[in-house]
Amino acid sequence: MIDSGSIKKTFLDELKAAASLSELQQVRIKYIGKKGLLTAQLKSLSAMPAEEKRSFGKAVNELKGLVESELASKESALGNADLKKRLESEAIDVTLQGKYTPVGREHPINKVLREIEDIFVAMGFGIEDGPQVELDYYNFEALNMPRDHPARDMQDTFYITDDVILRTHTSPVQIRVMEKKKPPMRFIAPGKVYRCDADISHTPMFHQVEGLMVDADISFSGLKGVLETFIHRMFSPETPVRFRPSFFPFTEPSAEVDIGCIFCKGMGCKVCKGTGWLEILGAGMVNPRVFEMVGYNPEIYTGFAFGMGVERITMLKYGIDDIRLFFENDIRFLRQF
Ligand code: DAH
Repeated sequence: MIDSGSIKKTFLDELKAAASLSELQQVRIKYIGKKGLLTAQLKSLSAMPAEEKRSFGKAVNELKGLVESELASKESALGNADLKKRLESEAIDVTLQGKYTPVGREHPINKVLREIEDIFVAMGFGIEDGPQVELDYYNFEALNMPRDHPARDMQDTFYITDDVILRTHTSPVQIRVMEKKKPPMRFIAPGKVYRCDADISHTPMFHQVEGLMVDADISFSGLKGVLETFIHRMFSPETPVRFRPSFFPFTEPSAEVDIGCIFCKGMGCKVCKGTGWLEILGAGMVNPRVFEMVGYNPEIYTGFAFGMGVERITMLKYGIDDIRLFFENDIRFLRQF
């Protein structure tokens, strides 16, 4: 026979003592689990005589109902307490400052390099590359600057050995490409170059873009057209352009190309030293001696070449007066582009 009073009392005591959801689960198992106390009582019903069954069944079922509802309300009380504890321990202060991840941006030199590439690619030029650690042969000799040629003095060279140097210009790429390919060809060769020099307008490493076009009938007027188109797209369509006679060992005739000063509009100012003009690149018709060095017949082929400094063009385009700013990595400077 069931003593529902004492079962109820022990149940309520144990319920009260359960301090966590897992302890509560133990109580649930003990009373109404598969092998629980009340479950066993209910199972024994079937073996009872009918008259006992009725009152016994009623008592057990009432007790089971009470156990279930008490368990449910304790469960939700414990659940709430658990949640409260978790919320407290995992609380974050949303007013604290977050971690700031600065977003990078394109360096002004790379930006202008890309613009230069886009303009020449639109005119049908390909893009070529060459080594920065270069042989004396490609940097000087094949460009018609033999050892002891005075033109070598114009370029303060970093020597690694007598024959190996850091390239002082991108012109050696002309030779490397002509050695490998046959005309017709037109390409530019952007890249880093090195000279032992440092002041407000020189850094030991800077960037140049070389250009070369070779075919059976390339003329100086072709050179003028290509460079004027480049300058008008790079600066503005109204920018005046002038070709001034000059000398480079690897071109003949040679020219330096000036643009009308973009600061004073040709009136004369500090930047253009009162001349109204700014030099932006060197150019010329490929010297037949250079063609001979790569095995092209200078009776058949002509070509033009040019070379420009990317830092200089960037400084002019954005009105920057100190080349060193490009390499100081001052974020306040770099953010402006
Ligand atoms: N390599 C020359 C320099 O660094 C620039 C130059 C001038 C390149 C004339 C050329 C050229 O291709 O035709 O000073």
